[in-house]
Amino acid sequence: MKANPAPPLLDLIYKAGLRHFDTASLPEVKLIADRFKDATCHFMAPIRIRGTAGEAYRKYGVRSFVIDDERELKRIDEETGITLPSERKNLKIFVRLATPVDGAFLELSSKFGVDYAAGAELLKKVAAAGFTPALTFHVGSLCIRPMAYRQALEICRDAVEASGVEIAGFDVGGGFPAPYPGVPAPEMDAYFYAIREARKTLRLTRNAEFFCEPGRALCAEGISIITQVIRRRDDRLYINDGVYGSFDEMTLPDWNIDYPRRVFMRTGTGKVVEVGGPRRPYRIYGPTCDTLDKMPRPILLPHTLTDDDYIEFGMVGAYSCALRTAFNGFYPDQWVEVQES
Ligand SMILES: Cc1ncc(COP(=O)(O)O)c(C=O)c1O
Repeated sequence: MKANPAPPLLDLIYKAGLRHFDTASLPEVKLIADRFKDATCHFMAPIRIRGTAGEAYRKYGVRSFVIDDERELKRIDEETGITLPSERKNLKIFVRLATPVDGAFLELSSKFGVDYAAGAELLKKVAAAGFTPALTFHVGSLCIRPMAYRQALEICRDAVEASGVEIAGFDVGGGFPAPYPGVPAPEMDAYFYAIREARKTLRLTRNAEFFCEPGRALCAEGISIITQVIRRRDDRLYINDGVYGSFDEMTLPDWNIDYPRRVFMRTGTGKVVEVGGPRRPYRIYGPTCDTLDKMPRPILLPHTLTDDDYIEFGMVGAYSCALRTAFNGFYPDQWVEVQES
């Protein structure tokens, strides 16, 4: 859900057979529950707004949650108010571990996650409370080192051994890359191999489950954003989408992904044709009145670019429309499904 909760995309993912969704808030849980009656939501934000765990449990049947401290465990216990031991056992509580940054473009272990020893203590508390303990981590987004998953699972193994608790499942998080141009990401098989090898070293119960929460890898390639040049002034382009719209990810520190681009123009007869030719760098500004609404780096585009031309930014399905705002009245939300033959 985090990488792209747009309904047209969710429908495609559902149609492809996915029935489990990683959600972080009640609105996300509600969106899935209302749309897909047979889907299961996992509430995987380690710190939740008060009352939301209880409502997710009672109203939407959520049975798995993540924690990285004891207070959240107590809160889940109080809010769900489960007394029957069999029902308590039905609640799966994932403990989130922190992992070292190894090959990820964006780390995700400094805000949430504990080390293996603190994780082991939490696992014991989950088990003592009669819930079902499980483990999770996130190696960081756009991780180009499959070994990072192996290392993370080794930390899980240390936590399991230190706790002496039987673990019902492992969730290896997200982080799987999309094949952006210039990013040396190995094939997906290398990731599955690393996870499979590490899995062999874990003490697993017979029906232990393995989950993952891919965001970027599922949706980056499927979506292009078609923008239009509102005005060209020399090397400056004012276009109808920007960093308050679909391009927030471009503003991340050290983020240098070169999303593929194509340019199109409408001819006098109304036909839309692709524009080629030599390229030059442009400074690109979004449509709002805000000075910060500009792309952080110059972008190479054809010399001949002019007002009303279209620029397609490809491979932007992840963390694009998920982050757009309606700042200054601009909210790009027109969807077109393209069948490529
Ligand atoms: C808890 C959690 N799971 C999964 C994801 C998806 O990660 P990615 O898009 O890197 O696969 C994220 C994203 O940051 C996340 O915070």
